[in-house]
Amino acid sequence: MPDLFDVMSTMRAMRRLKPDPVPDDLIKKILQAGQWAPSGGNAQRWRFLVVKDPEIKKKVQVYYSRLYDEQIGPRYATSAPPPGSDAARYQRQNAAVKYLTDHYHEAPVWIVACLEDGENPSRTAGASIYPAVQNMCLATRALGLGTTLTTRHVGYGKEVDAIFGLPPGVHSYAILPIGWPIGRFGPLGRGPLKDVVYQDQWGKPYPDL
Ligand SMILES: Cc1cc2nc3c(=O)[nH]c(=O)nc-3n(C[C@H](O)[C@H](O)[C@H](O)COP(=O)(O)O)c2cc1C
Repeated sequence: MPDLFDVMSTMRAMRRLKPDPVPDDLIKKILQAGQWAPSGGNAQRWRFLVVKDPEIKKKVQVYYSRLYDEQIGPRYATSAPPPGSDAARYQRQNAAVKYLTDHYHEAPVWIVACLEDGENPSRTAGASIYPAVQNMCLATRALGLGTTLTTRHVGYGKEVDAIFGLPPGVHSYAILPIGWPIGRFGPLGRGPLKDVVYQDQWGKPYPDL
């Protein structure tokens, strides 16, 4: 099993996945890692939906793809590359994002992270589900499997939650499409650490970065 820091520093968004099945004992390990996460007051109001049904995945992919056409594609076409990236790299990212859009439903397993957050979730509601999501991403990587944290579907959240049969007061916060990676894990594109860390007051450099 790789070291945690190796896992974190090579956990690229793996958007190209093989359709080959993933053994259930590995999915269980990933789910267990999710449940080990902290949640506010240890309330554990999460529910994890393991989705394998091709019809359900396809229904959701239709909305996911529509959102690419309506929002994501146009944004990539007009926005500047993020820190640590460049035009060519950003274009490759967009190509991978489009690939996942077209093949979303072909990932053999999805884990949908849901939260019993009530009718009017507070600003911090996500803080009780995203640690579990990140734990599951890390576990997936540690097992040699690929995934990407995706939240785009919330653009049609009502429609997608209905497809999953979620009851009132429960919402989906992320979908992890999981499968064996086609590409390789590798270094991440991030800006310099010194650009985002301050000491004591905003704008004052933290030394030795
Ligand atoms: C809140 C959040 C939502 C995201 N939603 C999507 C998504 O819907 N589709 C997608 O392809 N990637 C999604 N991503 C993945 C990011 O684009 C990815 O983490 C970022 O490009 C960095 O990629 P890297 O870790 O491979 O460098 C999301 C990431 C986060 C943190």
